Amino acid sequence: MYQSVPQRHHALLPRPDHDEQARQLFARDFRRYILLDVPQHTRRVYEHTVKPVLLEQAPEAASDPVTVREAMWQQGFLRAAQGLQRVSQELLWNAVVPYVECRADEVNARVRALGDGPGRGSLTLDPDFDVPAYLQDVDIHCMPGNYHAEYGPNDAAQGAVYDRGSFLYALGGVGDCNDGIGRTLIEALRQRYPDLAPRRILDLGCTMGHNTLPLCEAFPEAEIHAVDAAAPMLRYAHARARDLGCDVHWRQADVRATGYPDGHFDLVISVILFHEVHPDEIGAVFRECHRLLAPGGITAHIDIPDYFKSPDPLFVTLVDADTFHNNEPFWGEMHRRDLEGLLASAGFPDRETFRSIAPMGGFPWSFFGARRAAEVAEAAA
Ligand SMILES: C[S@@+](CC[C@H](N)C(=O)[O-])C[C@H]1O[C@@H](n2cnc3c(N)ncnc32)[C@H](O)[C@@H]1O
Repeated sequence: MYQSVPQRHHALLPRPDHDEQARQLFARDFRRYILLDVPQHTRRVYEHTVKPVLLEQAPEAASDPVTVREAMWQQGFLRAAQGLQRVSQELLWNAVVPYVECRADEVNARVRALGDGPGRGSLTLDPDFDVPAYLQDVDIHCMPGNYHAEYGPNDAAQGAVYDRGSFLYALGGVGDCNDGIGRTLIEALRQRYPDLAPRRILDLGCTMGHNTLPLCEAFPEAEIHAVDAAAPMLRYAHARARDLGCDVHWRQADVRATGYPDGHFDLVISVILFHEVHPDEIGAVFRECHRLLAPGGITAHIDIPDYFKSPDPLFVTLVDADTFHNNEPFWGEMHRRDLEGLLASAGFPDRETFRSIAPMGGFPWSFFGARRAAEVAEAAA
């Protein structure tokens, strides 16, 4: 299922030495084992040990993921398996952080050399920006320092940590440039809106921009903008985009209030943003999308596969593991929210909202969004 490829080198990504590479590949392969092999053993324990007891004691509860999770937890195997999943995540960062840390000066010098001065695109940072409270509460997916940590003035090293770490985390399954999910979004968009020809595009929650750059190739006539809360990621994104020959305007801003004028964009997208936005704030982001779009403009978002309504309660327990053990507090909850209802409440016409899937690597990635009504129709409504 996973077609693992080596990561493509670029000027900002340090080359690991032999031992660092060995540690990183071990962490990746251990994660692969935990994610793809161990669940088969967990299922055997469930089918042979836990499910028969649940069926006897409370047949109606046996289909409830919460009950199944609790029963599996008590039995002990799930506790061990998900403990190991947590260990695999921490091992991954332990294999990446020191490799970047000891080369942080080198990374920052390259970021400055590429990013400073005139050239492709632009970078606008806000020295008074407040990182949203929900992003400060935990180090998301256990990445030490989260997205926004800066260890010195104009630090961008956290970008390299995420660049290498997210590639290993995805088991090399999202392409050698880490951009497979962005490409999948573009493909799904083209299928839904074959006439799409945006003049200005905004990517919300772009991090270091690996899923922003495919927009440059797909829509060469368009002006591409991207926002994120994390300054180190944006510095890295800007330099990396220049190194790869792409024009993008990067800006530090909150996705709930980006600061761009009303109706400025024809297309507003995001890639795996929403499972990291506080669920009570999803509506605020949709309202901002509506405000930013020109009449007839489109907003479209891709996020982690939607397995949460599966009739198999053990499966739901397994895919919800990150909520409980990987500092991903909103992972499952985002999927339980009424995204189409929230889009409609944000001002998009009911009939224009959608929630479907975009297949990639055999997985059903969540794909949702809406088209803003044309002005005349909206005024008449
Ligand atoms: C999982 S990452 C998204 C990654 C990126 N789009 C990609 O394709 O890999 C989530 C990003 O959203 C950003 N983010 C979350 N909430 C935000 C907010 N309210 N305003 C701005 N950025 C936010 C985080 O800083 C982080 O970089």
